[in-house]
Amino acid sequence: MIDKFGRKVDYLRISVTENCNLKCIYCIDDNILNTYKNDILSDDEIVKIATECASLGIKKIRITGGEPLVRKNIENLIYRLNNIKEIEEIYITTNGVLLNDKIEILKENGLTGVNISLDSLNKDRFKKLTKFDKLKEVLLSIDKALELGLKVKINTVIVDDINKDEIIDFVKLTKDKNIDIRFIELMPIGAAKKYKGISNEEILNIIKNNFKNIQVENKSKRSGPANYIRVDNYKGKIGFISPISNCFCEDCNRIRLTSTGFLKKCLHYNYGIDLKKHIRSNISNKDLKELIYLNIYDKPQNHLFMKDCDDKENKYMNQIGG
Ligand code: 5AD
Repeated sequence: MIDKFGRKVDYLRISVTENCNLKCIYCIDDNILNTYKNDILSDDEIVKIATECASLGIKKIRITGGEPLVRKNIENLIYRLNNIKEIEEIYITTNGVLLNDKIEILKENGLTGVNISLDSLNKDRFKKLTKFDKLKEVLLSIDKALELGLKVKINTVIVDDINKDEIIDFVKLTKDKNIDIRFIELMPIGAAKKYKGISNEEILNIIKNNFKNIQVENKSKRSGPANYIRVDNYKGKIGFISPISNCFCEDCNRIRLTSTGFLKKCLHYNYGIDLKKHIRSNISNKDLKELIYLNIYDKPQNHLFMKDCDDKENKYMNQIGG
């Protein structure tokens, strides 16, 4: 469907849990740990909401968290979402720790591709950033996903003084593997407010100083908010997602459902609607569809990360799903 600013909205992100098996420094801190007991949507409730969204034009779903693979029986939920007739693609964003064990059944049940979050290729630093010694598991998952022919993208957040020196190592991962690495600028949300990111322009300059050939890739409908380059004819691409330095809100095509059933209009604002409350008071499908319609129609024009405003989102990233 089309929102009031003429944007086509066809992408729903569903967070299925706030829990995570890692504790990345810029995502989770002690302030939020007590929210974990929240009452989250059941599979039936998620499928009900997704079905109405699909009837309004949602074609692509991304499952996020927290860490989505810690939710019990996530493969069954993916199977059910894949059975909604309008849904064409289902992706998952995961830290990759549990992916190796589940990936075959996930693919069988309809998963199109995976985005794996990875901020360091160094064992000790991975542990410093995530508090867990799990780099090996993540690397295994990446190879397994590639082996199975799934689309694989790696999301990397550069936190200035921690992993800036690994930019070139990440780029080199694309040499022989068909994976895209995407650098995402750190957004000042939740625990991340304490850290300083770096701009994608700075990252691009570092790459330019280290590789001879930089080829700008054409932007396609599939590239989402990322701008891509390729270096030295490597197999995979390098993407830049720049919410801070280059707001891409005019192309925003997404809405977000939190694990507690709140349908968000925009990552940055707290606006939206508590669908759980309505579902649990037995709203009809028709009325549910109407509420979702109004919520999508009324998406804000753009985010204002760098400005102070009263209606700014106070949730943490693990509660929103990125
Ligand atoms: N800014 C930018 N990206 C973030 N992510 C989590 N928190 C932030 C933030 N504050 C990224 C993770 C993961 C994806 C889901 O979102 O690294 O790749």
